[in-house]
Amino acid sequence: MRVGVIGGGLMGSGIAEVCARSGVDVTVVEVDEARCENSQAAIARSLDRGVRGGHVSEDDRAAALERLAFATSLDDIEGADVAIEAIVEDEALKREMFRRLDAVLPDALFLASNTSSVPIMKLGAVTSQPHKVIGLHFFNPVPVLPLVEIVHSIMTADETAARAREFAEGTLGKECIDSQDRAGFVVNALLVPYLLSAIRMYESGFASREDIDRGMVLGCAHPMGPLRLSDLIGLDTLLAVSESLHEEFRDPASVSPALLNRMVEAGLLGRKTGRGFYEYSTN
Ligand code: 3HC
Repeated sequence: MRVGVIGGGLMGSGIAEVCARSGVDVTVVEVDEARCENSQAAIARSLDRGVRGGHVSEDDRAAALERLAFATSLDDIEGADVAIEAIVEDEALKREMFRRLDAVLPDALFLASNTSSVPIMKLGAVTSQPHKVIGLHFFNPVPVLPLVEIVHSIMTADETAARAREFAEGTLGKECIDSQDRAGFVVNALLVPYLLSAIRMYESGFASREDIDRGMVLGCAHPMGPLRLSDLIGLDTLLAVSESLHEEFRDPASVSPALLNRMVEAGLLGRKTGRGFYEYSTN
């Protein structure tokens, strides 16, 4: 099997790593050489963490790296069985990408998006094969978290959904839940209003960032608190999901707090840029 992963950022690199570890040949497509190199280095570092934790053998690490290729042209994924798009959460760019994927992969089993904020139907609508377009929504960190949401648009064929589930569960070993094509799907529709409430709580001076986070870790056994989790997700992605939730449901709980807007405008996007609610070493 051959998979094209479009976008080698946080999510695309994680998806590519999981595919390569599952015996799938993967080509990651990025816009330039520097981004290809960043993705390759991020995957190597993550595999090293997997080896240190005893989850990946040295041989499997080497085999996974061999199955990975990096390219700056979509032509390099011609003939792939599956495409998984994981570019920036920008509707216009994603629609343009699906137009191009449609042309390059007329015979793919399915064309998937990892989007967390763009309706799958809007991506299917620009292709000549909307019945083969589906959402496969992975969770960060992709090599660690088992869930994939399978998102069916009103045009997605049952056969496509079955193929996507077989790929995610059978090939990648993930666990799947099904969701309608509604903003936030299942998990973000529940998670994001909670994260936004935590930001509002911090913004209003109600409690310190550390105490908000410690409260949810120690009091509710969450693996990390909401401000640290927002940094992990990326504040730009969090903002994009909150905007799509608000556009769809008009629920005041999904309005983005001013602090989040300002942080995104300032380029303080969380862990990936070294600073969000906390500071991080960029290595
Ligand atoms: N492959 C396999 N295993 C790996 C790995 C890799 N590449 N990298 C790390 N691991 C393993 C580690 O060995 C460790 O295993 P162990 O538990 O057996 O020792 C485990 O993963 C945890 O890693 P670490 O010890 O390095 O780190 P922590 O224990 O501090 O956990 C965390 C970090 C996994 C991020 C944890 O805090 C967590 O799960 N946080 C919540 C994350 C979350 O909620 N994500 C969802 C975000 S929402 C989303 O993504 C959707 C989007 O649309 C917004």
